[in-house]
Amino acid sequence: MTAEVPTRLFSEQQWRQLFPLLNSLDQSQRLWLSGYLAAPEWGAATATTVVADTAERVTIAYGTETDNCKRLAHQLEARCREAGIAAEVVDLAQTRVRRLTKMKYLVVITATHGDGDPPEPITDFYENLNADDMSPLKGLRFAVLALGDSTYENYCVTGQIIDQRLEALGGERLIPRRDCDVDFAQPADEWMTQLLPTLPRAAAATPAVDHSAAYSSAPAAASYSKDSPLEVEVLANHSLSHPDRSHPIHHLELELPVADFPLLPGDAVGVLPENPPQLVASILDATGLSGEAPVVVDDQAMSLVEALRIHRDLTIPSRGFLSAWAALSDAQWLQDINAGEAKAQREFLRQHQVCDLVRRAPARPEPQALVDALRPQQPRLYDLANCLEVNEDELHLTVKAFSYPFGEREEIGIATTFLLDLQPGDSLRIYPHRNARFQLPENTELPLILVAEGTGIAPYRAFLQALAQRATPPPCWLVFAEQQFEEDFLYQTDLQKALADKVLTSLDSVFYSDEPRRQLADPLLDNAERLNDWLAQGAHIYLCGEKDSLDVCEARLQEQLDKNHSEGFWKQLSKDKRVHRNLY
Ligand SMILES: Cc1cc2nc3c(=O)[nH]c(=O)nc-3n(C[C@H](O)[C@H](O)[C@H](O)COP(=O)(O)OP(=O)(O)OC[C@H]3O[C@@H](n4cnc5c(N)ncnc54)[C@H](O)[C@@H]3O)c2cc1C
Ligand SMILES: Cc1cc2nc3c(=O)[nH]c(=O)nc-3n(C[C@H](O)[C@H](O)[C@H](O)COP(=O)(O)O)c2cc1C
Repeated sequence: MTAEVPTRLFSEQQWRQLFPLLNSLDQSQRLWLSGYLAAPEWGAATATTVVADTAERVTIAYGTETDNCKRLAHQLEARCREAGIAAEVVDLAQTRVRRLTKMKYLVVITATHGDGDPPEPITDFYENLNADDMSPLKGLRFAVLALGDSTYENYCVTGQIIDQRLEALGGERLIPRRDCDVDFAQPADEWMTQLLPTLPRAAAATPAVDHSAAYSSAPAAASYSKDSPLEVEVLANHSLSHPDRSHPIHHLELELPVADFPLLPGDAVGVLPENPPQLVASILDATGLSGEAPVVVDDQAMSLVEALRIHRDLTIPSRGFLSAWAALSDAQWLQDINAGEAKAQREFLRQHQVCDLVRRAPARPEPQALVDALRPQQPRLYDLANCLEVNEDELHLTVKAFSYPFGEREEIGIATTFLLDLQPGDSLRIYPHRNARFQLPENTELPLILVAEGTGIAPYRAFLQALAQRATPPPCWLVFAEQQFEEDFLYQTDLQKALADKVLTSLDSVFYSDEPRRQLADPLLDNAERLNDWLAQGAHIYLCGEKDSLDVCEARLQEQLDKNHSEGFWKQLSKDKRVHRNLY
């Protein structure tokens, strides 16, 4: 090492102090120090200043819709850093498959969504990975963690397909794939523990970099999450549709007492629902347990009744619950099912809710054993129906009552029952949920075509409030469908005001009960000339609401536009990120 002072960087005095120290370091100490100084806490690191050999760096790639996989990816990155493994986190939604050919170590953490589909943002990556012309991945070492929900027919299939595909392309599996159910924390942690020793220690431990942040125009990271929610108060809760309708739709207004709740129009609010008190009571009744019994959930002490009301899913029994309950109960028939084939178990679980199982196969578990056997309660998402730029201390939601047939009875939706019953002054726990693929386009001049059925109108109300702030809003065409004009024209006054203020260029509605033959896509197809004209100007199309209806609408648009333009026209719009879907 030269004793000459690098004068552009250090003063002579600084160099006099530094030089003897640096000169005394051995090779490994120097490498360690270079990584340490490059860490973000020193304010110096960017993706390009990381010094580790790119080839040996581990890429942790996530595919997510509701952020579980992203959180696990960062958890793994932190563990890599502690273990001296150079790792970077990337979002598969922002990753070109070509990049895989340059990688040596790839860890994929992905969810399955829809009906066995990949998370929507990673559709392009997934299709390209599975395309016939995908380059071989010889020399790639990989591992896959798959998240899913075992109550779905196509459990964890996205992770399974990616895992098989990486192997078929020539990759070498580091450790077997692990499929995780909704209580994924522990199995994911175990899988990471198994994975870490198979990853290369970097010559210099370098800080991991999340490149996804560089692509995102998201506001500052939220300090609230499903594990650390914000408690807010209900300001208003009233019916938007006819109150006697079988599945009423409500408008909720929540007080937002903080400024760091980063939501844009198109984003959603995560709600942590509470189970109906009568359902909690029926479980306590069937097990003979006292609600006052002390238990621990996620390291927090609480009463059993609180754990059952807030933290545990009391409807869907998992396979884990089946085996735990079979061990606790004397019922031989349940033990037989538990020892039987996976397919029969799935069928049984589909026909039984937790309360059916605990009633049919009585047992007297310890309170903690009951809590440990149940799945964690899952948050539900509701689209933000207002623009925080306009009204920064309120959140508006549009919620439709939900129920479903279950055997002989009709079951009520947990979160919707909870939300629709809330009174002004009640509180609930929420967190912000980014939906980066359902935002207004950055180019503020492009025409917008907004298609909604029912509660799908919610994000468009937020869009229109945001557009009303602009000096020159772009052309905007809204198509809305519901049951009856008289009772179900959700937010009719807001929409008509937007029309009068020229924020909306055109408003079309379809009311199924009034015009049984008319469908959601009809107003667009009936105005084919305008549709084509707007698309030629670069219009973005948004589809929001219940999946089945919007899928039919999209299929009709695709068929017609492909016929009018060329085969693959719709697919290309989609590839160009001009079709935005928010379906549930
Ligand atoms: C991005 C996004 C945005 C959304 N925005 C909105 C919105 O703005 N407004 C709105 O109203 N909704 C919205 N939703 C839907 C919402 O998140 C909920 O899914 C919906 O309200 C139903 O919730 P719930 O708790 O009442 O029903 P749940 O109790 O969760 O029941 C829902 C489903 O689970 C099934 N199910 C439940 N328990 C069982 C069981 N034991 N066995 C078999 N099947 C069972 C039911 O068949 C049903 O399909 C959105 C969803 C997403 C993903
Ligand atoms: C609308 C919806 C559809 C889902 N469909 C499936 C499915 O078909 N198969 C499955 O295994 N899991 C399914 N899941 C469960 C998710 O994979 C699971 O919740 C996962 O933890 C989500 O991870 P993410 O937060 O990273 O997106 C679905 C979840 C939602 C909300």
